[in-house]
Amino acid sequence: MDKMIVQPSGALNGSVKTSGAKNSSLPILFSSLLAEGEHTFHNVPHLKDIESTCELLNLLGAETLREGTTLKVKVKRPERMQADYDVVRKMRASILCLGPLLAQYGEAVVSLPGGCAIGTRPINLHLDAMESLGAQMKVEKGFVLAKAPKLVGSTILFENATVGGTENLMMAASLAEGTTIIENAAKEPEIVDLANYLNKMGAKVSGAGTSIITIEGVEKLKPAEHLIIPDRIEAGTLLIAGAITGGEVRVEDCMPEHIESLIQKMKESGFKITKDKTSVTVHPCQSWQGVDITTAPHPGFATDLQAQYMTLMTQAEGTSVITESIFENRFMHVQELTRLGADITPKTRVAVVRGHKGELQGAPVMATDLRASACLVLAGLVAQGETTVNRIYHLDRGYEKLEDKLTSLGAKIKRAKE
Ligand code: EPZ
Repeated sequence: MDKMIVQPSGALNGSVKTSGAKNSSLPILFSSLLAEGEHTFHNVPHLKDIESTCELLNLLGAETLREGTTLKVKVKRPERMQADYDVVRKMRASILCLGPLLAQYGEAVVSLPGGCAIGTRPINLHLDAMESLGAQMKVEKGFVLAKAPKLVGSTILFENATVGGTENLMMAASLAEGTTIIENAAKEPEIVDLANYLNKMGAKVSGAGTSIITIEGVEKLKPAEHLIIPDRIEAGTLLIAGAITGGEVRVEDCMPEHIESLIQKMKESGFKITKDKTSVTVHPCQSWQGVDITTAPHPGFATDLQAQYMTLMTQAEGTSVITESIFENRFMHVQELTRLGADITPKTRVAVVRGHKGELQGAPVMATDLRASACLVLAGLVAQGETTVNRIYHLDRGYEKLEDKLTSLGAKIKRAKE
């Protein structure tokens, strides 16, 4: 296994480009199962999760061809509509093949994804939604068994906003008979990107980005071409890397409006942030205030930026209260930050962070999940002495060459074998 060795790096300065969005690429790649033929996707990041998605698409009969950041997917009728445990356990988002397989082929057998470090990650809302479209759903021996000779549109109210549940339902409803209305739909930018691609394939999806999405089912979809939106979580992570080191970092090829909640909190904390249509810049700042956050569905503060923001707050003047309202166990990074000397008191869903600038001490720490691994790298940039982040396979799932991007800004960071 690889590890990341991070030295105190001083102020990071310069420009860095954001890669394509992991959480947009995954549903859009699975949506290709809705239309046989050749799909072309641009700005697809090189990540472990993309490799896992291609592995599952290959098992489902599709050919995948990488050409730089372009990925071509040639879909044909799968011999078996099954997603096995050994692929699904590597990537929970594999459940997103359920809706497309059910809609296009009337059946799907998908291994239950199981939980992960940040929570139990149930899929009940996905299964209820498919049932609402007329599918027969069973869970047996660790598998979801789904059958639906024909899906029929219906109105579904999600008891709580679910990104994956909204995506699965949008894809299934695209080929259902009649109209589907999704109420309390997730509003993330990745939902809008998926709707845009579904419509390019000939679907009739409207309202994406709002809490009410309407899908008029159509007979057939055809393959199309799409440019994946930038990764807003990577953009936010890079912005915090500039902020925490007191440098001036311009994050390019991003969509600032997708991280407005982070930008607002950083401004409230004392950072000067400027932006244009495709970039956001944090300016040098030597002292900033502790500012509370509560994670929430978009456009609220993204749960995927909570850990990175917590690291920033360990260096603030004063105290901040961080409330994680989306996942029940997304404070695994707290004990690792504490190993570096951070002053954090975690409760069930709330962590109180008392800032002490410049007092983190480098040490070996362990990545527990994707975003936690990023927060530990950020901490290593400002800790005194060397920080080693172990198990960074978590990082490789969702960040494309993070060490190269940070090195280009002046970070002292290198990858090594554990
Ligand atoms: C997506 O996960 C993202 N993953 C996550 O990013 C992100 O943290 C999450 O949305 C929230 O924004 C991808 O897009 C691939 P949810 P998802 O369904 O779809 C509960 C990362 O770091 N829930 O919106 O699984 C669930 O337990 C990853 O890139 C149910 O109870 O999230 C959670 O508490 C981590 N039943 C809440 O809803 C269900 O059937 C939100 O989950 C589904 C979800």
